[in-house]
Amino acid sequence: MSTADNWHPVGLSHSIEAGSSAGTRLFGQELVVWRDTSGMAHVWEDRCPHRGMKLSFGFVRGDHIACLYHGWQYDRGGYCQYIPAHPDLEVPKTFKVPVYLTQERGGMIWTTLSGNPAPLPVDRDQTVPLCSLYLDCSAQAAIAELGLVKLMPFVSRGLAATIVHHVTDTLYAVSTGDDRLLIGVQAVSETRTALHLAICGSPKLYEGPGQSHFLDWALQLRRAIEQPRSWTPPARGATVEMN
Ligand code: FES
Repeated sequence: MSTADNWHPVGLSHSIEAGSSAGTRLFGQELVVWRDTSGMAHVWEDRCPHRGMKLSFGFVRGDHIACLYHGWQYDRGGYCQYIPAHPDLEVPKTFKVPVYLTQERGGMIWTTLSGNPAPLPVDRDQTVPLCSLYLDCSAQAAIAELGLVKLMPFVSRGLAATIVHHVTDTLYAVSTGDDRLLIGVQAVSETRTALHLAICGSPKLYEGPGQSHFLDWALQLRRAIEQPRSWTPPARGATVEMN
């Protein structure tokens, strides 16, 4: 998995409420994920250009984020617009935080550290959040276990094959019967990975019992990853079926 020309998930959408921020990492790079009070999500370098304080420790004020240390305020474009110690200063445009392309699809916040990747091929945007699993392994090791845990149908009950689909290098779909889970793969570092899980479908159908049903599967998946066996993940665009 590389940083180039890929969308990478950095969290479930519901985990970042309007007016809040959180720190995360992608390929070891520290990022702040924040949502302004209008609901728009942003992913930036997690470092204030003034003295290097983490912006994830700061405060969201409308469509600005303010650094905790000396209160410099940055607008949506990452430009510093206000310095409390010099309220009348016209702030130079060079006082800017590096910002990254951001989008929300499939119940997750996505970013890219370089390039301008093709839009994510997620066609069903109505999702129900499940959970994020943080694992002490590489992204490849986590992906290699996806096909080893059988998923039991929720809507249709009974038995059905578990199908794993490699959508992109950072997005997999696991389906059974009428149910489908999206799994975003975040390479936090070379040895740490986050899997963000969301159920495709309406809250009316899946909230509550449906979430509990698939949470059991997620916990089995965690155990499988912690005790890895051998399985070859599908090539990009391909599917494998479990009986
Ligand atoms: S370190 Fe952020 S305002 Fe000073």
